Amino acid sequence: MMASVTAETKTMDCLHFINGKYCSSVDHKTFENINPATEEVIGTVAEGGKKEIDLAVTAARKALNGPWKEISTQERSKIIRRIGDIILKRIDELAMLETLDTGKPLWLAKQLDIPRAAYNFHFFADYMISVGTEAYEQDNIAINYAVRRPVGVVGLINPWNLPLLLLTWKLAPCLAAGNTAVMKPAEWTPMTATLLGEICKEAGVPDGVVNIVHGFGPDSAGAALSEHPDVDAISFTGETSTGTVIMQSAAKTLKKLSYELGGKNPNIIFADSDLDEVIETTIKSSFINQGEVCLSGSRIYVERPVLDAFMEKFVQKTKELTVGDPLDPNSKVGALISKEHYERVSSYLKIAREEGGNIVIGGKRPAGLDKGYYLEPTIIAGLDRNSRCVKEEIFGPVVTVLPFDKEEEVIEQANDTHYGLSATIWTNDLRRAHRVARQIEAGIIWVNTWFLRDLRTPFGGMKRSGIGREGGMHSFEFYTELSNICIKL
Ligand code: NAI
Ligand code: MG
Repeated sequence: MMASVTAETKTMDCLHFINGKYCSSVDHKTFENINPATEEVIGTVAEGGKKEIDLAVTAARKALNGPWKEISTQERSKIIRRIGDIILKRIDELAMLETLDTGKPLWLAKQLDIPRAAYNFHFFADYMISVGTEAYEQDNIAINYAVRRPVGVVGLINPWNLPLLLLTWKLAPCLAAGNTAVMKPAEWTPMTATLLGEICKEAGVPDGVVNIVHGFGPDSAGAALSEHPDVDAISFTGETSTGTVIMQSAAKTLKKLSYELGGKNPNIIFADSDLDEVIETTIKSSFINQGEVCLSGSRIYVERPVLDAFMEKFVQKTKELTVGDPLDPNSKVGALISKEHYERVSSYLKIAREEGGNIVIGGKRPAGLDKGYYLEPTIIAGLDRNSRCVKEEIFGPVVTVLPFDKEEEVIEQANDTHYGLSATIWTNDLRRAHRVARQIEAGIIWVNTWFLRDLRTPFGGMKRSGIGREGGMHSFEFYTELSNICIKL
């Protein structure tokens, strides 16, 4: 079994998990895992490629047609529930690993990432029991009914921002629907995924049902998985540009695809809203998880009469956010994921200045933090609506604020993007809330809240923010195939 993290060294080496066993790469290749809060190496990661993906897909195919198929729905539900139970039992260890890997505050991993990972399994363990199909009587001519079967071997490709949460958001329905999985976690965050192998085994998941192959994307494990001829479907969460590449690889064997991609989400604040509530939530929708959240409300639009009042309070509350050591319970914002990402996010601050923007607060490394990829929460004002900082996903603790005068105008600006993941609207006018929500081009629209999720509801993006929806029945639609059986009477 896996040696998990030790409290003293806070290190862990990550192996693949193939056919129920931990293993190195065939050629023993590895890469280093770095803690973004300290810039220290915290372990090595097996670097997989085509060979390891081949082994994992073979194991997944065998398990699909073997032991996994033999298990009853009730029994499968119990196994899936147990995965959630074990995750909760190991919450301290998993939260610590998530924090070491991502740089996010430990309290956040404990409050959000790990409990939600467990809930993904608990939710789908319950949900799967009541999933049905359709039947139609055609007068006295025929009856039609549909049978639902697993789609097969599914590749799950994941990002680094909410590693275990997003991976289990795919794995739970994938298993609930009777599929087997080959997962490719993000190269920057391999730790919690690695542990999930032994957790699944302990829960009673047969060997080969869940496989984990570490490695990179292009010309590596990610590419090998998305072009593998014996993989039936790919569920991918990550950047829109990566989605384009995966679609090309998957096209050769016409795989079923589910995509959760980038976002540049509007946070629209009308003058009649409750400003204290707005600020409290906007602080979260802007800066929680260092702003590394696909749903982050990074484009803030404020109705002009409350612009000054909003800015004053928003800046004040932002100033109060402590940036620092993710292990310190007082840190509200941790470190960005990597050097490369830190530089990418920082490059937007330079762009903002060149574009004539005014960095109202933040925009630099916090004083006293010389090591680690820390960046102050940043508010930019005074930008043109077409500037790059307003248009492009920054994926860090950086938001823009623009004023607006009219409802129609803000709707038009909110929709002036290739993305369409989520939006928040703040207003106490009931009719306006409904009227505006219906016109916003996004998959998820919150009114007077943000990030409030009911796992039965459709989750996903329109335009270049995604293809398909996840959640409840929507996840089942993706992870199953229907066959219609027509019986002539
Ligand atoms: P990324 O696209 O760089 O990587 C995601 C995964 O794809 C990684 O495992 C990577 O190794 C793999 N990959 C990269 N190139 C590949 C290729 N050619 N073939 C196969 N696999 C490949 O995304 P990143 O930087 O990890 O995550 C940040 C992005 O994810 C942001 O754009 C964010 O908005 C998006 N995201 C979307 C969410 C949603 O629900 N819509 C949720 C969380 C993040
Ligand atoms: Mg890491």
